[in-house]
Amino acid sequence: MHVVPGLKVLYFGTPVVLISSLNEDGTPNLAPMSSAWWLGQTCVLGLGDSAQTTANLLREGECVLNLPSSAMVEAVDRLALTTGKPTVPDHKVQQGYRYEPAKFSTAGLTEQPSDLVRAPRVAECPIQLECRVVAAHPFGHPAPDASAIQVEVLRAHVEEELIIPGTHHVDPLRWDPLIMKFCEFFGGGTNVHPSRLAQGWNMPHPHRSATS
Ligand SMILES: Cc1cc2nc3c(=O)[nH]c(=O)nc-3n(C[C@H](O)[C@H](O)[C@H](O)COP(=O)(O)O)c2cc1C
Repeated sequence: MHVVPGLKVLYFGTPVVLISSLNEDGTPNLAPMSSAWWLGQTCVLGLGDSAQTTANLLREGECVLNLPSSAMVEAVDRLALTTGKPTVPDHKVQQGYRYEPAKFSTAGLTEQPSDLVRAPRVAECPIQLECRVVAAHPFGHPAPDASAIQVEVLRAHVEEELIIPGTHHVDPLRWDPLIMKFCEFFGGGTNVHPSRLAQGWNMPHPHRSATS
């Protein structure tokens, strides 16, 4: 039987992304987010307009999307409720946010120079995507308070052991993303069901049963 609970949150579960970007003074910012979706070499990021990251992306036109594994949850959690914005917006003050200019050291993470963009990568993240901003679309109701920022992946850096040997594909059985689900962190990477979509795409995933 279904009920109609009037859901207040629709965060059903998405990978956490650590966005590194440059502040106006050239120092790096680093922010966790998870409202991201992917199609081809494009990613669309759902970011609140009060975030320092939003301003950085719109000004600089580039960033790095760093994907943490579930093992990195402590570092990610240390960045929660921090902002690189010197004047913390009222609604974030009420949620317990504080201004934090040194996000990398706060998280205990290491800056790694990028190849094509000025923002640094997060060395500990197994997947790092150098990106440029292509477009930004305001959204929110009744007044826009967020932006859907469309970025193009220029270069993907992937930990070698995550790549299926001899291919250009990430092994979904080895990649264990940190998942944010209803504001809680999840990981595990267990392959719970065969994917018909992957079969249709003829993906080179190992261990798939022939009958699935
Ligand atoms: C796990 C996690 C996921 C988050 N997802 C989002 C998100 O998808 N979009 C967003 O605007 N903020 C998200 N936030 C909140 C941002 O981290 C917050 O807005 C923060 O102020 C961004 O940092 P900045 O102001 O330095 O850019 C998330 C926070 C955490 C801890």
